[in-house]
Amino acid sequence: MTEQLRPDGSLRHLLTLEGLPRPVLERLLERAQGFVRPLGAAAAQSQALAGRTVANLFTEPSTRTRVSFELAAKRLGAQVVNLEVQLSSRVKGESMLDTIYTLEALHVDAFVIRDAEVGVPGLVAANVAPHVAVLSAGEAHLAHPTQGLLDALTIQQKKPRLSGLAVAIVGDLRHSRVARSAWHALRTLGVSDVRLVGPPALQPPDEEFPGGTRYTDLAAGLEAADVIMMLRIQKERMAEADLPEARRYFAAWGLTPERLRLARPDAIVMHPQPMNRGIEIASEVADGPQSVIRDQVRNGVAVRMAVLAEVLAAREGA
Ligand code: NCD
Repeated sequence: MTEQLRPDGSLRHLLTLEGLPRPVLERLLERAQGFVRPLGAAAAQSQALAGRTVANLFTEPSTRTRVSFELAAKRLGAQVVNLEVQLSSRVKGESMLDTIYTLEALHVDAFVIRDAEVGVPGLVAANVAPHVAVLSAGEAHLAHPTQGLLDALTIQQKKPRLSGLAVAIVGDLRHSRVARSAWHALRTLGVSDVRLVGPPALQPPDEEFPGGTRYTDLAAGLEAADVIMMLRIQKERMAEADLPEARRYFAAWGLTPERLRLARPDAIVMHPQPMNRGIEIASEVADGPQSVIRDQVRNGVAVRMAVLAEVLAAREGA
């Protein structure tokens, strides 16, 4: 596995939150918080990354993550190129690494990569020049590190004392990179009560999420929770036969206003989006007073600014 930290402890690549030391996470969150502005105020901007170039390579669909990486880079003064897979030479047979080397020769300083295959961000990170950074924007079901950071930041803004919280992660844990990255962030930041709430077929393999408590009963999992993170059913990672039927799923596992009342009265509701309204979450809940889903989106840009600033600012001759 490629080393994510430089010898001085600063971040060089961001491929996973697993194993990142707590001070690194805390520094990134603090830095991100510094980029958060209230809705209606002008977005934070600087020229810290002027002259740098960031390439977004997304080979899986994405709206929020791609746009927020793009805005994050631009708001720090960097230039951005977006490569759609249909346009890239990868589909014509040129290998992924040849594409990377071509872009490196064009002075790309950071690659932001989303791919459905395990190992692609790591493969690129292992092969780029020493001054080039690789950031994962979602790797298969395994990791979505900036999402984990933005989820931690969103929780921290509402519940500053993380250690005593009960966090319920609900739904398709098995196929969710969002759940895995949130898990790594929350554990490292000292949250001990993380509940993995979902039907047996959507629970992660036994060896994953060590120390998390598994609930196959929704009411029990929501009882007195401080934070409820709903997950999307990852249809694209399931065989047709394994897909739960939407109406039955909502009846058993959907977050409705009645079920939300099982949690603490001040509980917050999160969702990484895209949401399947009426399948994993009722619209009244998604748009209700306890929802922080829009805060998550806003925090996503701040977190990506913090990460880009850290991986790109340390370079000599900048
Ligand atoms: C998530 C993803 O792609 O992993 N979306 C996102 O980045 N906000 C979650 C999902 O697709 O369910």
